[in-house]
Amino acid sequence: AKIFFTDHSGTTREVEAKPGTSIMEAAVQNMVPEIDADCGGACACATCHVYVDDAWLGKLKEKDDMEESMLDFAEGVQDNSRLSCQILMSEELDGIKVSTPESQ
Ligand code: FES
Repeated sequence: AKIFFTDHSGTTREVEAKPGTSIMEAAVQNMVPEIDADCGGACACATCHVYVDDAWLGKLKEKDDMEESMLDFAEGVQDNSRLSCQILMSEELDGIKVSTPESQ
């Protein structure tokens, strides 16, 4: 499944991810800048913060409490903010668009 990452300067990168891979893992494997993922996906660092395109937001599972509380530490949080290590790719999410906050 494909993921499109847009950085804050407007550059978009296309990444191929196997179902079951998190968006964060796909970003790290493909050296997408602005996704640091310091904690390695343990939902403990908030440096994998992304904004999810509205068209896909509704297809994602709800945030759990841990993600919600960790997002409090991220900068520039919006309604469509998510932690990309908590989003697992599936065929249904093929073509998902996310963008990365400037502060990251
Ligand atoms: Fe650390 Fe997602 S990688 S919270």
